[in-house]
Amino acid sequence: MTSEEVRKLFLSFFEKKGHTIISSSSLIPTDPSVLLTTAGMQQLKPYFTGDKDPMTNFGSHRITSVQKCFRTTDIDEVGDERHLTFFEMLGNFSFGPVGSDNPKDIGTEGYFKKSSIDFAYELMTKELGLKIDWVSVFQGEKSVPLDTESIALWKEKGFTDKNIQQCDRADNFWGPTGDSGPCGPTTEIYVDGIEVWNIVFNQYFQDEKGNLMPLKLPGVDTGMGFERLMKVIQKTETVFETDLFEPLRSRVLDAAKNIPENHLRIILDHVRGSVCMIADGIYPSNLERGYILRRILRRLSLKLKQNNVQLKYVPDFIGAVSEKFSPHYEQLKNTQRVNQIFFAEVEKFDATLGKGLRQFEKSVSQSDTGEQLGQKLFQLYTTFGLPLEISRDIAQERGMPIDSRAKETFDALFQEHQKISKQPSQKA
Ligand code: ALA
Repeated sequence: MTSEEVRKLFLSFFEKKGHTIISSSSLIPTDPSVLLTTAGMQQLKPYFTGDKDPMTNFGSHRITSVQKCFRTTDIDEVGDERHLTFFEMLGNFSFGPVGSDNPKDIGTEGYFKKSSIDFAYELMTKELGLKIDWVSVFQGEKSVPLDTESIALWKEKGFTDKNIQQCDRADNFWGPTGDSGPCGPTTEIYVDGIEVWNIVFNQYFQDEKGNLMPLKLPGVDTGMGFERLMKVIQKTETVFETDLFEPLRSRVLDAAKNIPENHLRIILDHVRGSVCMIADGIYPSNLERGYILRRILRRLSLKLKQNNVQLKYVPDFIGAVSEKFSPHYEQLKNTQRVNQIFFAEVEKFDATLGKGLRQFEKSVSQSDTGEQLGQKLFQLYTTFGLPLEISRDIAQERGMPIDSRAKETFDALFQEHQKISKQPSQKA
């Protein structure tokens, strides 16, 4: 199955079960407590809390979507086999009041654990033909009990204590996003050793102090990483070989034939993320989400330079993202503005990189560590504009990890420099 077929199948499966299909919201969230949209539920928070009425706005208590997401937590890990910053999330949602919760009652009323688990099981096994290896449920803690209801529902489907794992808060309790909001215990579905679907039972509201209060009406919030799902469907080694990365992957390989796999992955992830961020109205800057965008564009520039990919290929890469995503995301239809902003930033940084890399070769040696290394990296930053995360990347590739002393020295000099220059902070 192609990703296009799966995307359609997912949405129409839930549409047939009474869900209204809604568009992805922007990567710039309406929720001020987060910098970027990290999950499908983000635009739906007011419906979980009862501040907005789903019937008025969607004609149903059931919603489904494919949401563009960006997560910064793993930004430095991108390049390995599985981490991504930008990804798409397939989700189905329900806001109370809960009706019969009988999966056969296809209506517009809300549902809870029984229907959620039934829908997920039917979609995975019957529609997609996948074999679920195991599932996990919340093991319980002081204020939230063991999820016996989910255990019983999975057992009805033939699962046993052997393939129902009970896990703690770190694995099986989700949310809130930002400092407060809906959250609750989860049940997760694993296929080929990968967690593909997270089903959250939003039963609580967590306030800024971490107190849990029952939500007036329970809700369901599910999220399935599209790239991971396609990896198990298309049986590829990593997510980067799934057709979700085409035609971008082919275009990058045309421009850089012998590129190392980790560099290729960084380019694929960062091109998709930056194009979608700019299309949603984010500009590269030194602040907040603008700085996240600047960071990924800079790392992308480094990888392009290290692999002798000329900047003339950049519009082809942007075009490939537009080709893939514009049927689903309106903002990616016309990429003229994206091209301008993307190109201007990458071109400007490319000049800095040229000088910075040459100077790195001249001044930093393998034997540098600790304070001396920190001082040299700081000098590369102030004199040549080479940001720490870029020099760190270069150093690490040469087998010179930046130790804590080097980092502390850099930070102390950086703070001193900021005090003197009173420039805005570089940190996101
Ligand atoms: N909101 C849940 C997640 O992001 C489904 O995993």
